[in-house]
Order: sequence, then C-alpha cells, then structure tokens
Amino acid sequence: MNRMLGQKDEMQFMDQFGRTKRKLRISVTDRCNFKCIYCMPEHPEWMKKNELLSFEALYQFCDFMVQRGIHSIRITGGEPLMRQGVVHFIEQLQGLKKIGLKRVSMTTNAHYLKKYAFALKQAGLDDLNISLDSLDEIQFKQLTQKDLAPVLEGIRAAKIVGLPIKINSVLMKGINDDQILPLARWSIQEKINLRFIEFMPLDGDHKWSNAHVVSEQNILDILKTKFNVTNQMNHSADPARQYLINHHPIGMISTITHSFCGSCDRLRLTAQGEFYNCLFAPQGLKLSTEIKALAFTQASSEVNLHHILSQYIWNKEQGFHAIEQRLKNQTTTTSSRKISMHMLGG
Ligand code: GTP
Ligand code: 5AD
Ligand code: SF4
Repeated sequence: MNRMLGQKDEMQFMDQFGRTKRKLRISVTDRCNFKCIYCMPEHPEWMKKNELLSFEALYQFCDFMVQRGIHSIRITGGEPLMRQGVVHFIEQLQGLKKIGLKRVSMTTNAHYLKKYAFALKQAGLDDLNISLDSLDEIQFKQLTQKDLAPVLEGIRAAKIVGLPIKINSVLMKGINDDQILPLARWSIQEKINLRFIEFMPLDGDHKWSNAHVVSEQNILDILKTKFNVTNQMNHSADPARQYLINHHPIGMISTITHSFCGSCDRLRLTAQGEFYNCLFAPQGLKLSTEIKALAFTQASSEVNLHHILSQYIWNKEQGFHAIEQRLKNQTTTTSSRKISMHMLGG
C-alpha cells in the first residue's frame, strides 16, 4: 500500500465537473425503529442480515477510500445505532486518522442515544446529526410512530458528554410546518445548531410532490415575523445555507430551491455494498464482491476497485435538477429506482 502524499493526490476521485470527492456516507443498516413519513415505506422489505457487508469489510473499504482523498466518513442508516457493533466500528475508524481521515460522524434519530452517547464519545465520534421534526408530542408520534421523550433525553445526553450536535428538521407543508417557530425558539434556548431541510423526492412510498415542499423562502418569511434574520453567505461544500436569527445560527438545506450540487463532494455506500455517486443517481454500482476481495488479494483487488470506481464517479451527473430533467425527457420510462432514503442514509 502506498501512502505517500503525492501519489495520494493523484489517486483522488474526481467527477467530470471537477468536483473532488471528500465525504463518504456509509449506511450500516436499512432498519429503523421509526417510520418517518418522509423516509420509510409503509411496508419495508428489510435487507437480509447475512447480505450486509461485515464491519471488517467496511473498514477495508474506508481504508481504501481514505487513501484516495476521503477525509470525512458519516455513518448513517436506517438507524445506525440499531446495528450491533457500530460503536466498535467507529473506534476502529479512528485508526484511519493517521492516514488522512479528519472526521467520523453519525446521523441518528437519537432514540437510543441516551444509552450510547458516552460510548460514542469514548470511541472518538467527532459529531452527531440528529433528526427532530416536531416538538409537539402528538405530532411527533404521528410523524415517526415513536415517542418524543427518548429523543430529547438522547440530545441531552449527547450534550452532557460533549458531542457536537446539529438538529435536522424536515418540513412538510400542512404536516409540521407549524413547528418552524417552536423549533427555532428551542434551538436558541438550547444553544443548538438547527437546520431546516426541504422535503426531497426520496420517500419510500413515492408520495412526494412539490406541493409538500416548504421552501427556504417560506421558512425565512415565517422566521422574519418573530426574529431579526440575517444572511451569512459562507456556502461551501456544506449542504446548509447559513443565516442568523437574533444572532443565533440557523441553516437551510434546500435541495429543491437552492441545490448545492455544484460543490458536491459526497459518495455513498449502502449496507449491502451498493455504491452511489449521487443521492439521486438512478443506478448504483453493486460492489460487495469487490469490497470483500480487498481483504484477500489486496494489491490486485485495489487496482480493480479503483478502476471501476473512478469510471463510475467520473460519470457522476451534474446533480438533482439535471437528473430530474433527464428522467422527464426520457421517452422510454425507466422505472423509478427501488432504493429510498432509509437504504441510502440521506
Ligand atoms: P456532512 O456530511 O457533515 O456535511 O453532513 P450533512 O449535514 O450533509 O448530513 P446529514 O446526514 O445530517 O444530512 C442532512 C440533510 O442533508 C439530509 O436531508 C440529507 O438527506 C441531506 N443531504 C446529505 N447529503 C446530501 C447530498 O449529497 N445531496 C443532497 N441533495 N442532500 C444531501
Ligand atoms: N427529504 C429530506 N430529508 C430527508 N431525510 C430523510 N428523508 C428525507 C427526505 N425525503 C433526512 C432525515 C435525516 C437525514 C439523514 O435525512 O431528516 O436527518
Ligand atoms: Fe451531490 Fe447529487 Fe446531492 Fe446534488 S443531489 S448534492 S450532486 S449527491
């Protein structure tokens, strides 16, 4: 394995639009104890446990990717804390920090966080993103089919152990858009970073429509009725556009009205080893055999995987709007892909 810097630069993955890949999101399970309506299908068909990549294989893959310029790894799900061994995996990943990995993060629904916060901190987790779409107990249950209290306890536990957190709130018109002001006030009171997210067409049952989207502008209009809102245009590869409400930071992830595809540095792997060059890519790449092979015939497997990946990544499309447009223009109907947010981890 060659870990010399010059060679590493040469091996980095870049797409046809000049976007170098820095972030890898790994979904470690498709299972989730929540049933968020913007994500999970009504009748999910879970991946078979024996078809999931082992943590050993995932580690080999992360090592391979860090050697090729990935500096942030985000563990997602489903709900990542539902996969046994995930804390140990995070601890193992710390070993890659000596070859260039800078951050190991997780996105969770926080239901089990009270139990795991301390262990995650001990394991070296750098930060946590937590989904919280309502502060109203009844509405929360309607949205997720679970209770709000454990999530709030999980958030408290993460703060106590010193894990930096960001809250993600997906807004849907007529469903939870009445939560804009309560969530904003709560984030100021709790001194927590909150990001409002525009609902994206990746829900399991394909019920998304433009009419459900609460746009960044809608959110700003509502915030302006109660707060002094100022723009902080420091937009880079961070998905959120930053604002201040009464001097407190707040973010907007607005894929529909202001996509950040132009600076996209992300790649994704599902728990079964399917690789996606874009959240909206119509087709993934089945790589479980190639990834498992990394552990055995290392040199030749690395060359082979590098070749397959660099081609697929190079062909990454421009982004969300370009893909939507191309699919609309196609005369032959390619059936919409089966994979949804719960398998791809957002
Ligand atoms: P970083 O990787 O640290 O920048 O984290 P993040 O904020 O992107 O991660 P998180 O899992 O919290 O995702 C927040 C929201 O951004 C979710 O709704 C994701 O689906 C969305 N998101 C994350 N990555 C992408 C992406 O590459 N494209 C689009 N369109 N949305 C994304
Ligand atoms: N649109 C926007 N965000 C979504 N998430 C899940 N499904 C969707 C969707 N259809 C968000 C969750 C979670 C993150 C990983 O993705 O809120 O925080
Ligand atoms: Fe990147 Fe695709 Fe997301 Fe755009 S839609 S930011 S290109 S992953």
